Amino acid sequence: MRDTVLSDILLREIDRESSVPLVRQVYEIIRQLILSGTLRAGTRLPASRGLARELGLSRNTVIFAFEHLQSEGYVVSATGSGTFVSDTVPDLPASVAPVTEALQPLDPPHLTLSRRGTEVVRNAQASSTQWGAFVAGVPDVSLFPHDIWVRLLKRRWKQPDPNLLTYAHGAGYYPLRRALSEHLRIARAVRSTPDQIIITNGIHQSISLLANLLADSGQVAWIENPAYWGARTVLKAAGLSTVAIDVDAEGMAPSECHLRTPPQLIFVTPSHQYPLGTVMSLARRRMLLEYARVQRNWIVEDDYDSEFRFDGRPLASLQGLDTHDRVIYLGTFSKTLFPGLRMGYMVLPKSLSAHFAIGLSDMYREGRLIDQAVLADFMEEGHYAAHIRRVRVHYARRQTLLRDAIHETFGTDWPISTREAGLHLVMHLPDGTDDVGIVLAARSLNISVRPLSRYYASGPGRSGLLFGYASVPDDQIRTQFKRLVQVIVPALEHVARSDSFR
Ligand SMILES: Cc1ncc(COP(=O)(O)O)c(C=O)c1O
Repeated sequence: MRDTVLSDILLREIDRESSVPLVRQVYEIIRQLILSGTLRAGTRLPASRGLARELGLSRNTVIFAFEHLQSEGYVVSATGSGTFVSDTVPDLPASVAPVTEALQPLDPPHLTLSRRGTEVVRNAQASSTQWGAFVAGVPDVSLFPHDIWVRLLKRRWKQPDPNLLTYAHGAGYYPLRRALSEHLRIARAVRSTPDQIIITNGIHQSISLLANLLADSGQVAWIENPAYWGARTVLKAAGLSTVAIDVDAEGMAPSECHLRTPPQLIFVTPSHQYPLGTVMSLARRRMLLEYARVQRNWIVEDDYDSEFRFDGRPLASLQGLDTHDRVIYLGTFSKTLFPGLRMGYMVLPKSLSAHFAIGLSDMYREGRLIDQAVLADFMEEGHYAAHIRRVRVHYARRQTLLRDAIHETFGTDWPISTREAGLHLVMHLPDGTDDVGIVLAARSLNISVRPLSRYYASGPGRSGLLFGYASVPDDQIRTQFKRLVQVIVPALEHVARSDSFR
C-alpha cells in the first residue's frame, strides 16, 4: 500500500468531532488495516512527521499511535529505516475495544470461527502485559519461596509414584483436597469435607466446567455489572446467555423484574466485588440465598482474593451461610501463590461433587497430580499459611503507598475503592473521562492500568482506572504513579466538571 493511500484512508476515517482521542483513532484504523491484510507484513509505514502533516495532526499523536502498535507487536521499528508491519501479526485483536461502529474489528481472514468463537476473539480482554507496574490481579511472584518449592519438588521426583505421572481420574489429589478443606474452614468459614472439593486448572476452568454441567445452551446466568471479563467470556463461550445486574453499595442488586425471571446461575464476588471492591451486605447475602433456595438455581461464589484482607475481621464466605446447598464456591492459587501455577479449586454441594469429578476427567482429561502432591506438602508443612501471612504485609503497605500517591496529587477526598482487601484498587474518574484513552497513552509509558468502564456489560459505565499494586516494589509505586499523572491530567481537562463522580 502506498503512503498516500494510507493517509487517504486515515483522512476519511478519522472523526475529529468524536470524543475518542485522535491517537486512539489512528492506532485503531491502522490496526484494522493490518488485521484485514490490507497492510501486509513488511509494509513500511510513512514517516510520522510527514503523515502528521498530511493529516493535520500533531506529530506526537502519530508517534504515540505507532508506539502503541509496536508494543502490541503489530509493527516493528528499525532504527534509521522506519516502521514496518510485523511478519507475525498477533492472531487475536488486541485487548482494546473497537472505537466506533465503522471501526469494528474485521475477522482475521485466515480464521473461520464459529459465532461464539468470533465473539470471544472480538471481545478479547486479556492483556499481553502480565508483569510490571500496575498490572491488575497479579501477586508479587518474586516473593514466592521457590527454594522451599524446589526442595519439595525434588523430594517428589526422586522416586516418582507412577500413579502421580499418569492421567488423573476424579477430583484431584486427595491430601491436597484434605489440606484445602481445613484451610478454607479456618480462613474463609467454608464448610466442606475433602470429598466436596475438586482441583481444577483455576477459576476459568472451574467456570467452564460448571457452566457445561449445570446449564444448557441459551440458559441464563446473572453476572454482576461491572464484572470480571473472564467470567463473562467463559460463560458465554459455554453457550449461556449473560444478564448483567447492577451492583450497588450492598452488592448485586436484582430488580423486581429480574427476580420474576429466575436464571440458572447467579455469579457473584461477595467478599470483594470485582472490580469495585465492595463487600456484599449480610442482608443481600440472605436475600440471594433465600431466592436460590426457592428457585433452586445455583449461586456461584468467586472468592478470588479474600485471603488478602488488611482491615477488619475476615468476612465469612457466602458458602458458609448456605444451609440449603445452593452455593458453589470457587477459589484459586493464582493470587496466593502465582498465576502460572494454573491451579484452583471448587467446593461443591454434596449432591454435585461426584458428577463434577467425572465431568472434569471426561472433559479435560486432567493430570498434574505430582504438582498437586507438591502443593499438598507445601500446605501440610505450613508454608502456605506462612507465605500468605508474609505477603499480606507487603500488599497492605503497597496499597497505602499508592493511595498516598493518589491523594497527594489529586487531593485527599479523591474517590478510591475501599481499602480492606485485595491486590488492586480503583481510582474513580469524573463522569465522561476517557479512561480507555488514558490506558492507551499509559502503555506508551510502559505502565499497565485497566479502564473501569470496560468492565461494564452495557451502557455508559463508570470511568476509572484499575491499579494492581501487589507486584510493584515499594520504591516504584510513587514514581510510576507520578509518570502516569502526565497522561491522566490532560484527560481530565477534557471533562466538563472534574467533580462529577458516580
Ligand atoms: C474476579 C476474578 N476471578 C477469577 C480470576 C481468575 O482466576 P484463575 O487464575 O484461577 O483462572 C481473576 C483473575 O484476575 C479474577 O479477577
